[in-house]
Amino acid sequence: MEGEHASVWKKILKIDKVEFPKYDKCATEYNPNLDESHAREDRAIKFYSQAAAEAQNSRVKEIFQAFVEVETDHLNLSEARLK
Ligand SMILES: [Fe+2]
Repeated sequence: MEGEHASVWKKILKIDKVEFPKYDKCATEYNPNLDESHAREDRAIKFYSQAAAEAQNSRVKEIFQAFVEVETDHLNLSEARLK
């Protein structure tokens, strides 16, 4: 899903490649990986929410808001798995 988001931005920004940050390897235990996933979804929601609030272009604002909805779904999935 995150790759699809990057594809949207590649088209909008007319760039060839989106650089993803490098992360440490996955933990061998289930819950630390879910905790990390949860934190990433939370960061994404905050970032996209701020970007939507600051966007001057209505279409760009709409795209950021759509990403907030998608990431919120991901967060809800991760919360369900952490229970
Ligand atoms: Fe996500």
